Amino acid sequence: MTTSDTPSEPRTLRIAILGCGFIGTAVLSGILKASDTSNNTSTNNLKFSLSAPSQTSVDRLHHQFTSQRYRDHIDVITADNATAARDADVVIFAFQPHQLAQVFSDTMLVEILRPKLVISLLAGVSCREILDKLSPEKVKDESKAKSTAPLPRVTRAIPSIGAQINESATLLAGDTDLSAADHDLVTWLFGLVGATHEVPERLINAVTAISAATHALAVVAVDAIVDGGVVSGVSRPVAMAVATQCLRSASTVLKGGESGMTLEGLKEAMSIPRGITINALLELERGSVRSGISDAVRYAVGYAEGM
Ligand SMILES: NC(=O)c1ccc[n+]([C@@H]2O[C@H](COP(=O)([O-])OP(=O)(O)OC[C@H]3O[C@@H](n4cnc5c(N)ncnc54)[C@H](OP(=O)(O)O)[C@@H]3O)[C@@H](O)[C@H]2O)c1
Repeated sequence: MTTSDTPSEPRTLRIAILGCGFIGTAVLSGILKASDTSNNTSTNNLKFSLSAPSQTSVDRLHHQFTSQRYRDHIDVITADNATAARDADVVIFAFQPHQLAQVFSDTMLVEILRPKLVISLLAGVSCREILDKLSPEKVKDESKAKSTAPLPRVTRAIPSIGAQINESATLLAGDTDLSAADHDLVTWLFGLVGATHEVPERLINAVTAISAATHALAVVAVDAIVDGGVVSGVSRPVAMAVATQCLRSASTVLKGGESGMTLEGLKEAMSIPRGITINALLELERGSVRSGISDAVRYAVGYAEGM
């Protein structure tokens, strides 16, 4: 299949995930779950090839993805990127940014990648950097601009950890040179693992920092809330179950939908006179939590932009 085919057609789409570690595994798990449950028959024809250099990771991937349930979707699990990418229509980069130079030192892999749709998950690495590596002569030598060789097709997607439970907030670079068909394919693919948000590539690092800071803050907040409950005599499992469910419901209510509320509406609804919530809110303000949070986000944005 070429990627110009519409994703809804029931054909085989081959996807390679190079560097299938934490986030590659989360995305793959989410896609496979969606293809298990979706009514969209096209998702049943996804075939994956996965790479990770260490034997430990190869063994983990075999253990995790070659069960009866997913066997039909997994073609290859290998330590070699070129082997994984060779027959793929789409190649997802899921290794770490500092591994990029090492990955591109494989000249056979670079040749294999040139005609493919490449989706990079790498934080802080621009499409331009990858395009330069895939077609340096085209970028640097205008006289070769009329070459008949296909132009590389590169875009970026930044999924979040929620991908594994189909609750990702995936950022997609919205201003690349992709064809409409490639754009639709990327949107469809990451739509399988949750919500997608298109942002201009120049803002993708900043929005990634918002996503990262939100996860970091949720961990710190839940941890502190649970400790606060435990010190007051509540058992840790009960405190944990209540805190995580409340976080989930507050987020769902704020996200909107029919029963959605604004931030102000939620605050007002919870803050009845002499109520517990207004007391908790005012105590939080005494600890400069609000400025602490926005400072943390600002720092994370600066860090991401400097990557
Ligand atoms: N973690 C997140 O929440 C998140 C979210 C969005 C985007 N990202 C991006 O996703 C990428 C991966 O992050 P991660 O958290 O999944 O990291 P990770 O768990 O360390 O995964 C990196 C994977 O790359 C593999 N690898 C190492 N050298 C390689 C090479 N030369 N060629 C191919 N694969 C190689 C590693 O294999 P071995 O285990 O065998 O060494 C590992 O499986 C990063 O670029 C990050 O910016 C992460």
